[in-house]
Amino acid sequence: MGRKRKNADSGEDQAEPPTKNHIPSTPMPEGVHHYETIDEVPWDLQKYWHQGYSIFSKYDEGIWMTDDAWFGVTHESVANTIAQHVAEMAPPNKSIIIDAFCGVGGNTIAFALSGKWKRVYAIEKDAATLACAKHNAEIYGVADRITWFHGDCFEILGAMDGRTSKTVDALKAIAGQFGIIFGSPPWGGPSYRNADIFDVDSMEPYTFKHLYESFKNVTPNVVLYLPRTSDLRQIAKALDGTKKTQIVHYCTRGSSRALCAYLGEWETLKS
Ligand SMILES: C[S@@+](CC[C@H](N)C(=O)[O-])C[C@H]1O[C@@H](n2cnc3c(N)ncnc32)[C@H](O)[C@@H]1O
Repeated sequence: MGRKRKNADSGEDQAEPPTKNHIPSTPMPEGVHHYETIDEVPWDLQKYWHQGYSIFSKYDEGIWMTDDAWFGVTHESVANTIAQHVAEMAPPNKSIIIDAFCGVGGNTIAFALSGKWKRVYAIEKDAATLACAKHNAEIYGVADRITWFHGDCFEILGAMDGRTSKTVDALKAIAGQFGIIFGSPPWGGPSYRNADIFDVDSMEPYTFKHLYESFKNVTPNVVLYLPRTSDLRQIAKALDGTKKTQIVHYCTRGSSRALCAYLGEWETLKS
């Protein structure tokens, strides 16, 4: 048996086995893991493994991850702060939040826990990753507040011009009237870390322009979670002149991890 991970909050080794392991309602799909010791963790993920309790404080209750998800998951404290800000800044008539790239559920769970939304819609195109999000939401006791969609968010939301189905039209109408869209898209791999100023229009596979232009077809309230060095001039330029944007940096241990661009019609952040 290998070492258990240190609990980042208490600073103590976890000598005891987890006390409250969640019993999954579905079998673990291929590509999904719940690593219990560092010996099981692929070498390139081991630095993330040490941050595990900061990612999900309930990790030991049986959190599921894919190996890709370790790189992009939003850490719990950041996800909770974003959820609090989005709740504060959203216009009063909005009751649905759409997490367009829900991953393993970091932000989706925080939005559901915030108690602000009548419904959280969570979209993910990778089936194994979506299975993790559903399972993790059960661990946090919020699965019944979330509607899950498996597929491409641009298609599901009818965000692209062109022909759509009746279901898409209905969802688009609901999202347009009552919804806001939160997006934490892939950032195109770790290369963004080397940039002093990150060119958001080189982001892969979706550029900032593509994301914003698509989502604003659905609702005027869009939040995008982007690298902390994102080029703010590019972001400002993509908005039409009458709209303003608010940029909020989210920090852990005194340094920015990422920023959110609140695009379109938002209340001013006070807290
Ligand atoms: C950075 S991760 C999101 C992390 C998430 N916020 C979390 O805390 O777990 C981006 C996710 O978007 C998914 N994705 C990429 N393109 C997509 C698309 N067109 N529609 C829906 N999901 C997509 C990827 O499979 C990946 O899981």
